[in-house]
Amino acid sequence: MGYLEERAKLAGKVAAVVGGGLGIGGAVTRALARAGVDVAVCDLDPEGVADTRVAVEALGRRVHAVVADALDPGQLDDFFAGIDRELGRLDVLVNVVGGATRQWFARTTPDDWAEQLHRNFGWAIRSTSLAVARMRAQGHGGSIISFTTIEAHRGAPMYAVYAGAKAGLTNFSRSLAVELAPEGIRVNTVASDTTPSARLRALIDDLERRSPGTMSAELRARSHAVYVPAGAPPSVEAVADVVLFLASDLSGAVTGTTLHADGGTWAASGFLRWPGGHGWAPSPPGSLLPEDD
Ligand SMILES: NC(=O)c1ccc[n+]([C@@H]2O[C@H](COP(=O)([O-])OP(=O)(O)OC[C@H]3O[C@@H](n4cnc5c(N)ncnc54)[C@H](O)[C@@H]3O)[C@@H](O)[C@H]2O)c1
Repeated sequence: MGYLEERAKLAGKVAAVVGGGLGIGGAVTRALARAGVDVAVCDLDPEGVADTRVAVEALGRRVHAVVADALDPGQLDDFFAGIDRELGRLDVLVNVVGGATRQWFARTTPDDWAEQLHRNFGWAIRSTSLAVARMRAQGHGGSIISFTTIEAHRGAPMYAVYAGAKAGLTNFSRSLAVELAPEGIRVNTVASDTTPSARLRALIDDLERRSPGTMSAELRARSHAVYVPAGAPPSVEAVADVVLFLASDLSGAVTGTTLHADGGTWAASGFLRWPGGHGWAPSPPGSLLPEDD
């Protein structure tokens, strides 16, 4: 065992990944299994669940993988009961499920708000509570990691309810971290920005099919070079590495905080690297503004 593995103490632990079949969650599940962790996964996508089960078993780890809707309290409760039955303990929880569609707030309805609040905050409170009860009973601490977004940390027009819900999840996690610190249960969030998950890539490919030339791979690369300080967004595997850190004892001193897995976009906070040698500025150079706008 190398120095890092020795310090990380991940091997032999049990993690639950809610939304762990595809996208960022799929990468998290696989990374944890590679690090020697047995994994419980629930996901809405049956193919994602089946592929994940095969992938984790191929890595020689135990897996409990079920098709379940995390937004349904009964199905979430059953998933955690299955973890007790199949894996016998729980050391790490990763809350992945979340997301939003871009829309003017004035065009949304109370039903839309309730759905967004539940998808991006409500269900994660229940999931966290189910994990905390188990971790406290075990008495060996634990690590709880929830996915939020850069939009929880800046004004996000056309994502107002999503941004509010994820900001709620952020401060819920920070507050709970303080309550649970004496018991060694750490609670943190990972704030992603644009990350090329399979779902996002399919969405962009679809836009390009409908309006050819607007979302081509070349245009996207140029746009990322303007927006992302690192030059391109992190891969789902790079984001999963951040979760590995927070799940492991390497982050034993870290609780109640947010790690921004975004290639530097939050640090830039609106500064963009304008093309044509204009360098970094928050507003576009005059020469780049269209005359008739
Ligand atoms: N991908 C991005 O660009 C991005 C940017 C900022 C924040 N985030 C956040 O990161 C997290 C993951 O994003 P993603 O793009 O990988 O998401 P995704 O839509 O690809 O979903 C991740 C997984 O969750 C599953 N899932 C969706 N709804 C579910 C439900 N109700 N019950 C169980 N499983 C469900 C999906 O099948 C998938 O396997 C989200 O919380 C999102 O808000 C993502």
